[in-house]
Amino acid sequence: MAILIDGKAWAAHDRAQTAVAVAKLADSGIKPGLAVVLIGEHPASMSYVRGKDKAASEVGIYSEVTHLPSSMTEAGLLHLIRELNHDERFHGILVQLPLPAHINEQTVIEAIAPRKDVDGFHPFNVGALALGLPGMVPCTPLGIMRLFEYENIPLEGRHAVVIGRSHIVGKPMVQLLLAANATVTVCHSRTKDLAGLTRQADIIIAAIGKPRFVTGDMVKPGAVVIDVGINRSEGKICGDVDFASVEPVASHITPVPRGVGPMTIATLLNNTVKAASLRA
Ligand code: GUN
Repeated sequence: MAILIDGKAWAAHDRAQTAVAVAKLADSGIKPGLAVVLIGEHPASMSYVRGKDKAASEVGIYSEVTHLPSSMTEAGLLHLIRELNHDERFHGILVQLPLPAHINEQTVIEAIAPRKDVDGFHPFNVGALALGLPGMVPCTPLGIMRLFEYENIPLEGRHAVVIGRSHIVGKPMVQLLLAANATVTVCHSRTKDLAGLTRQADIIIAAIGKPRFVTGDMVKPGAVVIDVGINRSEGKICGDVDFASVEPVASHITPVPRGVGPMTIATLLNNTVKAASLRA
């Protein structure tokens, strides 16, 4: 029986701390602001954006969502981002991904001022993380690092296997684990003998977007298993980890929902307050 890592409860703890920081900034006349841009009607994106907007308002962050049709041009979006870069009300800008195919994601990310890039996706922040310099760190992997800290899970010298190499989770996760002195293996869709590698892991981070991909036979007894997946399968939300077979083998496991997802949002709020404090 694994210990269940209650991401929902830890996220509430983080949001309470962020609310205190927001109140302190208010004493100096600063109200942190977050601009969220959503393009199109992608149902999951719409739900994530609603969650971010609501959570921001609850901790006292000024939040504004700009919802644009999927016919929006790249030039139009770049124009909006330039306006938001100069709008002093906003300390953070988040463009919800994925974008429609006719818009180049990288061009859009690079248009966001690095100091307002609360997602940590701009090459300036990606480079800073790789070099161990101060900058904005992507919310999901940073939220996972907080869970390790809160649950007293040591990382130094331990073997972490990250499944997935996305810019949003896998790659920044690798950087953070390395900075914490873990030994890191990165697996992906072309990896040979993936199960042979995960069976050597003290810590598994599953971020591949395939429902119930990691099964109990792929996990070393006592390993820590972090499930980043949010998949829809047969009308239900499930993770990248097959909870039923992994939970009896692991020492710690994050559920889906109520695991990593709430930490992503809590960390976004914290990054927004950090951006506001840095400008102050
Ligand atoms: N789409 C899925 N996850 C994320 C995220 O963390 N940030 C943004 N901007 N889009 C996403």
